[in-house]
Amino acid sequence: MNNMDLSKKFEDYLHTLKWKNEPEGLYEAISYILQLGGKRIRPQLVLLSNQILNGNVNDAMPAAAAIELFHNFSLIHDDIMDNAPLRRGKKTVHQKFDTNTAILSGDAALIFCYEELLKLPADKVSAAIKLFNKTALEVCEGQQFDMLFENKSTVSVDDYLEMIRLKTAVLLGCALQLGAMLADANSIQQELMYEFGMQMGVAFQLQDDILDTFGNTETFGKQVGGDIIQNKKTFLLLKAFELANLEQQKVLADWLTKKEFDNVEKVEAVKNIFNQIGVRKIAETEMEIHFQKAIHAVHQQFINDEKKNRLIAFASALMKREK
Ligand code: IPE
Ligand code: IPE
Ligand code: MG
Ligand code: MG
Ligand code: MG
Repeated sequence: MNNMDLSKKFEDYLHTLKWKNEPEGLYEAISYILQLGGKRIRPQLVLLSNQILNGNVNDAMPAAAAIELFHNFSLIHDDIMDNAPLRRGKKTVHQKFDTNTAILSGDAALIFCYEELLKLPADKVSAAIKLFNKTALEVCEGQQFDMLFENKSTVSVDDYLEMIRLKTAVLLGCALQLGAMLADANSIQQELMYEFGMQMGVAFQLQDDILDTFGNTETFGKQVGGDIIQNKKTFLLLKAFELANLEQQKVLADWLTKKEFDNVEKVEAVKNIFNQIGVRKIAETEMEIHFQKAIHAVHQQFINDEKKNRLIAFASALMKREK
């Protein structure tokens, strides 16, 4: 099956999942965010890995659904934490419904992940849940670091890279490893798939940070400048601080400590310094390093060139995204 067929099959499967209508809001909020679409990268990775390692895609479908449900759960809660108004071009769940509904719907979505994982072939359930649980806790750890860093002035680039590995990259690794595990792949194949996803995920989050500042709200579907408003310690900000002259450092530090400000003014001022220093290019170079590490893991797999190229093409397309 090509990527389009896999993607269609996944959407069909998602449509078979039905939730109750009552109490008002609880399940509706889950359907709302799922229907807004998104790129569906993670389920695609589960299925792609499964297919490339000769699995039966039908067996992997609940794992793909679990991973996408988990991702959507994390977005619902992330948008509360990040005070975000827009997701996939529409109102975030807590703005469309309310914060308490968003918390509960997120919780319910997480429980549905386990409902899906329990549908996997009986001999795989335990290993799949073990990997899933390890990953889910890491995502929580990453999200906590992300928030702690907002009020910390001594975050290093290494701290940042570890934070994004946890909050974002491990889930891509987990998706690919689950696909491999369900195809009965050996542990080396599974680990290489994980490494591919993890490195691609680091590059992916660097790109997300770039788009958050330099993207366009229409295509990106999120509030541009949100990271700057929230004092997120992104790669862009850390590099800007590192390379700024004294005057630029003072301007940055002033904006970071201001309690009341006009959002547009702050975003413009910080972005201006980013541009003066040229941090976007530096971030793109860092992205490329992790992309190359991802490709390296693909080349170590014992699979034919056509299959390797399919994985590499997926990662390359992701690096050029604008949404
Ligand atoms: C957004 O992920 C959260 C991050 C880890 C940056 P995606 O960019 O995959 O979001 P959707 O699912 O396509 O909307
Ligand atoms: C989110 O990072 C990672 C998770 C949701 C776990 P971001 O906060 O940068 O994601 P977006 O930009 O809101 O999608
Ligand atoms: Mg966010
Ligand atoms: Mg966040
Ligand atoms: Mg972001």
